Amino acid sequence: MKRARHLTRRFFAALWPGRPAASDDAWVRTFVNPAEYEIWARMANHDRRHSIGVARSVQVTLSGTAYADQPEWLEAALLHDVGKLDSRLGIFGRVGATLAGWAAGHDMADVWSGKRGITRRVGLYLRHGELGATRIRFVGGSESAARWAAAHHEPDTWSATGIPTPVIEALHAADDD
Ligand SMILES: [Fe+2]
Ligand SMILES: [Fe+2]
Repeated sequence: MKRARHLTRRFFAALWPGRPAASDDAWVRTFVNPAEYEIWARMANHDRRHSIGVARSVQVTLSGTAYADQPEWLEAALLHDVGKLDSRLGIFGRVGATLAGWAAGHDMADVWSGKRGITRRVGLYLRHGELGATRIRFVGGSESAARWAAAHHEPDTWSATGIPTPVIEALHAADDD
């Protein structure tokens, strides 16, 4: 039920077409390197706005902790969904992909991503974590960001990322609200 509410909220947020404010864009550039910025900037407007919201929330949560001055965690927040570039699914397709993933299980994503057309795009969307990690590594980006991108929808793998637990909790909490 919580996931359904979350999906609904993301759906309506995604309908607002605007690009991030110039000041937000400049803020992003202070955390990502030029190659990472290039892939970040290719995301859809709503995905960029989402990533900024997640990063700002993580910054607030980590302020005053031992992790506050470690910009790599904001870098991870900003880049966690760059794998969505591969599916090129619109908003309605994403809702369908998410529902299909719930119904059939994410194990089907590998099979679907080997197909063609919309089936392939749904499969790619469901695999956006690992695809994002590949993109980040390909441009020589942050290894922490790549690990979080790969793991962010796979709680079973979080302990193997090497990312401190309080940081994972902050990243996850920010992504889910
Ligand atoms: Fe994601
Ligand atoms: Fe996300």
